[in-house]
Order: sequence, then structure tokens, then C-alpha cells
Amino acid sequence: MAQVQDVRLTVDEVARELPLTRASVGNDGVSVSTLLRDTGLVTVDSGFMNTASCSSAITYIDGDAGILRYRGYPIEQLAENSSFLEVAYLLIHGELPTQAQLDALTLRVSRHMHVHEGIKAFLGAFPRDAHPMAVLSGALSALSTFYPESVGRTPEQIELATVLLLAKAATVIAYLQRRSLGGDLIEPRRGGDYVEEFMRIAFSPASGEIEVDPLVKHAVDVLLILHADHEQNCSTSTVRIVGSSHANIYASVAAGVGALSGPLHGGANEAALRMFDQIKESGDSIEQFVAKVKDKAEGARLMGFGHRVYKSYDPRGAVVKKIADKVLADLGGSDETFQMAQRLEEIALSDEYFIERKLYPNVDFYTGLLYSAMGFPTPMFTPLFALGRMPGWIAHYREMLNDPTTKIGRPRQIYTGEVERDYVPVDQRG
Ligand code: ACO
Repeated sequence: MAQVQDVRLTVDEVARELPLTRASVGNDGVSVSTLLRDTGLVTVDSGFMNTASCSSAITYIDGDAGILRYRGYPIEQLAENSSFLEVAYLLIHGELPTQAQLDALTLRVSRHMHVHEGIKAFLGAFPRDAHPMAVLSGALSALSTFYPESVGRTPEQIELATVLLLAKAATVIAYLQRRSLGGDLIEPRRGGDYVEEFMRIAFSPASGEIEVDPLVKHAVDVLLILHADHEQNCSTSTVRIVGSSHANIYASVAAGVGALSGPLHGGANEAALRMFDQIKESGDSIEQFVAKVKDKAEGARLMGFGHRVYKSYDPRGAVVKKIADKVLADLGGSDETFQMAQRLEEIALSDEYFIERKLYPNVDFYTGLLYSAMGFPTPMFTPLFALGRMPGWIAHYREMLNDPTTKIGRPRQIYTGEVERDYVPVDQRG
């Protein structure tokens, strides 16, 4: 598509030039900020289908071509060669770290993985079957009260909060798993590998310690990398809008966890696995289930399918499918469900309903299968997504904070309620 040079909007025969904001690659923007002042009109864009809420240098997506890059690096290269903390550094600081920088971050994060006794008590106060996303949101918000020296907007405070969030989120999520399985909370070890330590805390029995299978560790690293950022998605936009009021980073990220918990967003990994189970239990054939989805009568959606931005195969989904093949073969995971998912994908991809609407598997179609094969209970899938997304949320919060054009997020509306009317005393109401 040729680059647009000039945009004019004619309102009641008066033409106004709208300023353009250029992208380094991808869609340029048309600025409408002065429209209300100049014309009395607001723009309407339900679900922000066509609204850029900010300029960002963190992540680039081309949804038609199935491209995802963090700070310019293709996701496939990062998944193949990098580690989660290295990608976290890249997203947050803009460049890949040197070995010394990576070692320093790894050590600093590992030194902060222990959590305050008060946080442990807080986790213990919830019912054992509480959904971990609800507890996680509360715990992340509560971190600000235990580590007040990291609360604020100075570079030092933000840097400390960054390390604390990366470190403590891993321990809290691992503890949530231990609690749900009835285990005691074991202490993190200092100086270990981030993912290995997370897995050790999550899975070690009360006495003794597990050896983390290197293939599983690698798969978790890759899954976390794939989830690490996805530009202005629902939860990241939530983090930005909460932070735009100058709420602290903990409150902002906790709000992001709430947004992520929904089944149309991060909760889709859990919903997809439940969907596979339901199909099995119902005795329906895959064709019958697809027919129900297309019929829309029962409100069924093919969970793990479709994406607001990707109108081709989600590049993260392609990476997950490849590792799922390997890990499931190695762990002897649910082959039956994997085959069912593959068959479901095959049928959907050749069906006119899905082709017409450009619905492809997204990252969540296969992740639940993998997590399940690794031994994670189903409610832990979305907290794992949250752990992966943490660097992205932090990077966006920091970018927003440093952007002089940031304003408090405050959309307009089209009011469709009653026009002015007079109060009627209760004894006179019909
Ligand atoms: N199954 C069946 N039909 C679907 C699906 C699906 N998964 N997704 C979209 N459609 C249909 C809609 O019914 C609609 O059909 P229509 O034109 O006949 O009305 C059309 O495709 C467009 O769908 P919208 O809901 O308008 O698309 P939107 O961009 O708003 O939604 C979303 C994107 C929420 C991801 C949607 O595809 C969905 O609900 N998918 C299932 C949940 C899911 O997997 N979410 C994870 C997203 S990835 C992530 O957060 C990491």
C-alpha cells in the first residue's frame, strides 16, 4: 500500500487537514485529538478496532503476514536462541544484554525471589480452590505495601520494582500451584536459573527436590518468551491506562492480571483445554462440534482460534505446535487430545466459515496441552501466561512513563440515555 501523504476531513463543507503520525514500519496514524475542539464531533471505535492509543517502540506485529518482532527481532529467532530473562531485558531496555548485563539481571532477580512472610500469609488466607488469577492480582497489588522503597516514579524506584516484579511473580505463581496441591511453601534458592527455580518451587515434593527435565525447562522458557509481549493487547492497554493516572506499577500490573484472566484473552488457554475435554465427554464428533460453533446457537466459540490482529496463522502458535510435538512425545502426554486438536485445526482451516473470517489457531490453542503434559493443573495455565507477559507489562509501563505525550487515559462516549428530566418524589411515581 502506497504511503498516504495527506488526510482531509470535510465537516459541513469545511475541510480540515488531519496530521499524520508516521510508523517506522506498519500502519501510519491519523491524529484526531483536536476534532472535538474544532468540530464538536468525537470518533467512535468500539473495541478500539482502529485506534492507536500510543506510539511504541517495543513490539511490531503484522497480522496479515503473521509477523511478530520484539524490538525488531523476529519471535522465531528469540524462541530458538534466547532465554526468558534475556528477552525480558530486551523488551524493558530496548537492546539485547551483554553477558555481564544478563548475569547481573539473573543474579539480582534470583536474590529477590524470596517473598515476605506477610505475602505468604496473604496467599494462605484464600480458599484452597480460589482461582489463582484472582489471588495473583491481589498479591501483585499488595507487593507495593511490603516493598514501599520501590513505589514511585523515579528511575531507581522503577528499576527496583522491575526486578521485584519479575522475581516475586515467579515465586508467588509457583506458590499458588503448591498451595492448590496442598504443599508447603518451600524457599527459593539464590543464584539459580530463573525458569529452573520456578519449576523447582512449583513441583518439588515436601521432602526432596525435583530435577527439572532440560527439555521441559527449555519448553517453559520458550512459552514464556512467546507470551512476553504483544503490543497493545487488552491487558497491556489496561496496564497503560491504569498507569496513566500515575497509579504505581504494582497496581497497574495487578489490573493487567484481571484483564488477562478473561476467556477471550489469556484465559483462552484454560478454556481451550476445557473445550477439548467437553468435546470428549459430550460424545460429539469433531465435525458435530464445529457445526455447533458455526451455528452460534449455543454461543460456542472455538477457543484458541481467532485473533483481533492476526488474520493469518499466529506465529507464536506455529512455534508452540512444533514444541508440543516434541514435548508430548517425550513426556508421553495426552496424545489423544493433541491428535484431536490437530484434527480440529485441520477441519477448521478447510471450512468456509473459518476461511472467510480469517480465523486461525492462536498461541493458546496448543499451550494448555503442553502445560497439562508438564503437570500444571488447568487453573495454572493463565497465571503462567501472566508470568510470561510480566516483562511486556513492565516495558509498556516504563515506556508510557517516559513518553512526554502521555496523558491520562480517558475516552469519550456517545451518550444515548434520557435527556434532562425533573426529579419525581417516590410517592408520586407510577
Ligand atoms: N470461533 C468461532 N467464531 C469466531 C471465533 C472463534 N474462536 N472468533 C471469532 N469468530 C467469528 C465471530 O463470531 C464473528 O463472526 P460474524 O462476522 O459472523 O459475526 C467474526 O468471527 C469476527 O469475530 P469478532 O468477535 O468480531 O472478532 P474480534 O477481533 O472482536 O475477537 C477474539 C477476537 C476475541 C480473539 C475472538 O476471535 C475469540 O473470541 N476467540 C476465541 C477466544 C480466544 O482464543 N482468545 C485468545 C486470543 S489470543 C490471546 O489473547 C493471547
